[in-house]
Amino acid sequence: MPVISAPHAFNEGSLFVDLASIFGYRLYLKCEGFNFAGSIKLKAANEMVESAERDGSLTPDSILVESSSGNLGVALSMIAASKGYRFLCVTDCRCNLSTKLLMEALGSQVHVVTDLDANGGFLGTRLEYVRSLCASDDRYVWLSQYTNAGNWRAHYRTTAPEIAGQFPRLDVLFLGTGTAGTLMGCARYFREWHRPVRIVAVDSVGSVAFGGKPGRRMIPGLGMSMRPPLLDESYVDEVIRVEEADTIRTCHRLARRGFLFGGSTGTVVSAATDWLAQHDRHDLTAVAVAPDLGERYLDTIYQTNWLQDLYGEHLLDSAGLESSWDEKSASSRTPEHRRRP
Ligand SMILES: Cc1ncc(COP(=O)(O)O)c(C=O)c1O
Repeated sequence: MPVISAPHAFNEGSLFVDLASIFGYRLYLKCEGFNFAGSIKLKAANEMVESAERDGSLTPDSILVESSSGNLGVALSMIAASKGYRFLCVTDCRCNLSTKLLMEALGSQVHVVTDLDANGGFLGTRLEYVRSLCASDDRYVWLSQYTNAGNWRAHYRTTAPEIAGQFPRLDVLFLGTGTAGTLMGCARYFREWHRPVRIVAVDSVGSVAFGGKPGRRMIPGLGMSMRPPLLDESYVDEVIRVEEADTIRTCHRLARRGFLFGGSTGTVVSAATDWLAQHDRHDLTAVAVAPDLGERYLDTIYQTNWLQDLYGEHLLDSAGLESSWDEKSASSRTPEHRRRP
């Protein structure tokens, strides 16, 4: 049993969900939401803060500042609170309400930008805001998750070996792309591994991370309105783009089996199950990474009015959701003792 005295000292790194009974393929989902920050971003935050402490750029009177769609902001809020730093998070109006409240509860300041940038996203506006803060006061320290090598190094050191240790015969790995930290850390590790692993990057439609046309994206986490500076496509074998409607259907399918995950997990699982179906491969060992859990999305992805307003009334009609009150499924799942007369 681990005993800790700092919140960032704990992370569950060895939990995988076998999705075979839900989707019919041997797809293992690595769960990154079991730590006090609730997401994979704890790893990048830890690595970047420790490296800034080591190189002397972060000192006790520094004010950390970062642009984040939410999860890195929560992780930095937690670390800052634990270590006694001040932290200002610059986010945008697509950040979940609960994520913003979490950061504030941890003692951070949160600035929400609302003006769209030239690509129809908010990233450009957020970065401009951070740059102007840094120019105004030299106590601001910007770790810059988009360019900081500590971001991908965290996954090279932790996420990838955690997967390799559990699946020594891994064939294909599905990774969502935001800053590309997770993707590049894992891709670099497996390039040097003892056997080839197919690296599949997953992005959302409307993101320009791998090129393409910008479009509306309402689910935070995955996708970028610029090319990620950390991305080196020579490490990527394939890119799959997922429509937000498919992300949401997959989230709901998982939830109906008791697994409440965040939006980017729905995106990655949707891409992985489609890929496995297209290639008709039941013999492969496949892993996908689930960056967070679903509670932060209760007022969006899991909220009927939000879904209907943005995606129409029939979004979930084709999701293949079994109602738990459906007679057939109820009888087939009724425990033995209740089925007896
Ligand atoms: C929920 C969620 N999923 C996926 C990602 C993408 O991870 P990365 O920035 O390592 O590409 C993020 C990044 O913020 C995230 O918050």
